[in-house]
Amino acid sequence: MDKLRIVGGKRLSGEIPIGGAKNAALPLMAASLLTDQELTLRHVPRLADIDTMTNLLVQHGVTVTLVGANGKNGNGNGHKRSHGGGMTMRLKADDVGSTVAPYDLVRKMRASVLVLGPLVARHGEAKVSLPGGCAIGTRPIDLHLKGLQELGAEVVLESGYVTARAPKGLTGARVVFPQVSVGATENLLMAASLARGETVLVNAAREPEVADLARCLVAMGAQIEGIGTDQITVRGVERLHAAEHAIVPDRIEAGTYAIAAAITGGDIELLGLDLDLMEAPAKTLSDAGVAVSSTDRGVRVTSGNRRATGVDVMTEPFPGFPTDLQAQMMALMCVADGAAMITETIFENRFMHVPELCRMGANINVHGSSAMVRGVGSLTGAPVMATDLRASVSLVLAGLAAQGETTVNRIYHLDRGYERVEEKLAACGADIERVRG
Ligand code: EPZ
Repeated sequence: MDKLRIVGGKRLSGEIPIGGAKNAALPLMAASLLTDQELTLRHVPRLADIDTMTNLLVQHGVTVTLVGANGKNGNGNGHKRSHGGGMTMRLKADDVGSTVAPYDLVRKMRASVLVLGPLVARHGEAKVSLPGGCAIGTRPIDLHLKGLQELGAEVVLESGYVTARAPKGLTGARVVFPQVSVGATENLLMAASLARGETVLVNAAREPEVADLARCLVAMGAQIEGIGTDQITVRGVERLHAAEHAIVPDRIEAGTYAIAAAITGGDIELLGLDLDLMEAPAKTLSDAGVAVSSTDRGVRVTSGNRRATGVDVMTEPFPGFPTDLQAQMMALMCVADGAAMITETIFENRFMHVPELCRMGANINVHGSSAMVRGVGSLTGAPVMATDLRASVSLVLAGLAAQGETTVNRIYHLDRGYERVEEKLAACGADIERVRG
């Protein structure tokens, strides 16, 4: 297994191009199942999760073609895409043979469950393996299933699979989510776009990736209002058609590299995204004494070679502080002046990075869903273990600031969500290399 070897202490400066959002690309790829015409996606990031979704769609019978890197200046969604980046992917589901999503693929990536809504809506049935839990929590899909039932699907759970049927099609309904769920909102958005009549999603997720999916569905002919709000109205149509869509930039990748600048006392320009995608993290960083400003090419993060100041963080659904940046922020708070109380409200077990950070000399005490972090003078490099995608990148960030050498093992977790992480960091001066294992 590959690992990353990092020698800390280098101030990072330079620029990092931000790719298309993984958590937008995955539902957008699933949306190809809603039509027999071609869906073209631009700025698709090169990630293991994208490969997994590709394999899943191909086994359903979708033709997936990659046409290489996007041309320069691939503009889209009004974002400042001064660089190309990513791939252009063409998907065509004109010959869906199987509506079964098998366990061996779904267990690798929970987002596979996003084929459920499109398959039921367009093909009248779907049999999807229950994703099972993962390192950060049990991660049920009850909200997805309840929503589909409210649209008229018959849902049966048997031997680890969920089978959903709607042979006569789905019927629009008012679906109220008892709690915000990104995936359930996306599944229902896709299903409702082909349902008879009107669907209203109440307490819908407002994440930019959800809005990006909705914009793409509209380009495909769906009738959707309230995009980006917590109440989305969908008027079902007979069929959807071909479309081309530029994927929204990845605010979590951007936030991760913003914290890389902060933790090394550096100065990095994040290319290709607007500050409005990361207002909450930007506010938290500026409260911690890190300057975050908008430029004509993206977002600039300057720490002025000062240590950050400890600030409290509570994760919340968008537009609050994203749970996917909690581990990374904790790494920064480990070497900040003062203390920080970090509270995780979205997932029940998202502190796996804590014991590994403590092995590097961090002072962290976990009480239930909160972690009290007291800044220390410096961290010490050590061999550490990645456990999940965001925990693994927080260990990389800690390694960039630590004295001496850090080796991050099991970085297959990292490769699920970060494209060429060692190249992007090395280009800004980090002493980091991938050791093939
Ligand atoms: C999406 O996961 C993201 N993944 C996650 O990013 C992200 O952390 C999460 O949203 C929250 O922002 C993708 O978009 C592929 P949820 P999702 O449904 O949709 C509970 C990463 O690192 N819940 O909003 O699975 C659930 O257990 C990943 O890139 C139910 O109880 O998240 C969690 O506690 C990690 N029942 C909370 O809701 C359900 O039916 C939020 O989950 C669904 C969710």
